[in-house]
Amino acid sequence: MSNVVLGVTGSIAAYRAADLARELMRGGCTVRVCLTPSAEKFVTRVLFESLTGQPCLVWAFDEPEAGRMAHIDWARQADLLVIAPATANILNKLAAGVADDMLSTIALAYTGPMLVAPAMNPAMLANDTTQESLRRLVARGVEIVQPAEGEVACGEHGQGKLASVSEIASAALALIGWTRSLRGRRVLITSGPTREPIDSVRFLSNRSSGKMGAALAKAALWMGAEVTVVTGPTSVPPPLGASVVKVETAQEMLAAASEEAPAADLILAVAAVADYRVAEPSRGKIRRTAEDLLLRLVPNPDVVAELGRIAKPGAVLVGFAAEPTDDLAVAREKLERKGLHFIAANDVSRPGIGFESDENELVLIGRQGPPERSGTLSKIACARWLLERVARALPG
Ligand SMILES: Cc1cc2nc3c(=O)[nH]c(=O)nc-3n(C[C@H](O)[C@H](O)[C@H](O)COP(=O)(O)O)c2cc1C
Repeated sequence: MSNVVLGVTGSIAAYRAADLARELMRGGCTVRVCLTPSAEKFVTRVLFESLTGQPCLVWAFDEPEAGRMAHIDWARQADLLVIAPATANILNKLAAGVADDMLSTIALAYTGPMLVAPAMNPAMLANDTTQESLRRLVARGVEIVQPAEGEVACGEHGQGKLASVSEIASAALALIGWTRSLRGRRVLITSGPTREPIDSVRFLSNRSSGKMGAALAKAALWMGAEVTVVTGPTSVPPPLGASVVKVETAQEMLAAASEEAPAADLILAVAAVADYRVAEPSRGKIRRTAEDLLLRLVPNPDVVAELGRIAKPGAVLVGFAAEPTDDLAVAREKLERKGLHFIAANDVSRPGIGFESDENELVLIGRQGPPERSGTLSKIACARWLLERVARALPG
């Protein structure tokens, strides 16, 4: 039984949330409703409490169980947060992280998958602020059920009508189905760059930001996995809920990941591991002289190939190939040579995707079948796209 928190906001379409609650219950969910104070002008607590058999929250300090903070309890217990209808106001508050009523406070405390179904006047929807908020929410992995075009309650024609209840319910149930596919699985992710010291203050590294690894960790958590991230120094922290091991060099990454690998069902080697390290890093700081400075580099261990050797039978190993070309031959060769089950290639020469950016485009190559292309997606959507595919290769 999945726990859904259904947030209802101050739109004239609020009455349709009653049918949505019923539809989700028919789909096997326990539904708990949180109204905003504005929504309570349109619909009542009694309506939802009678329909769902659960308490309905409105005010930030409502506490059905004395002594427990309901906003934290509900956020922790939810498998999915659906906000339908979602006003322009709640979208802009979610994007900005405002928590000034019970619903927005639950949303801020909640770390799982979220679905929002906006409903509003077409001008409010087209407003730059609302559009910017929608873009920010999509980049964080929030799924949007787009409002339909037609005549809205205020008599205007345009996009803004709440999507149909069946469309919202099926998107919600699909998200719940998706969130189950890694339940009980252990996922190991290597992420970020490594740093190979030159002396006590300098190092060799690369442009990996760790964003793709963090997105994969978040998506895997949403899918119910137990996630460990072994990460080099990154600009984005791995998500709350993942256990994190911080490392600097390729050798440290291999040592830390090797401890986790034998228990992992799925290994995602996203880290951009330096191929070479400085043979003899200087203990102090190298000083400038008039002479040339030669650094001798020696090969680092091949982390993903080593992890493949110690992985348990049936574990699925996925490598990443950031290549400055869309020629897949290099990625295919890596797949074979390193004994991977899949390799996800991305063309880092293309502006706007790959290193440091918020979007990515992957080509997933398996041992059988033609390569699949994700198209350009936010990194979290890309992570979800990839995990859905590789999860199918896990033994039942
Ligand atoms: C009759 C009426 C209908 C409204 N319908 C909508 C709507 O469909 N979408 C919307 O974004 N705002 C709508 N509003 C404005 C919101 O109720 C208002 O912005 C409110 O502050 C939203 O609060 P909430 O987001 O906390 O529920 C409506 C207001 C009124 C008076």
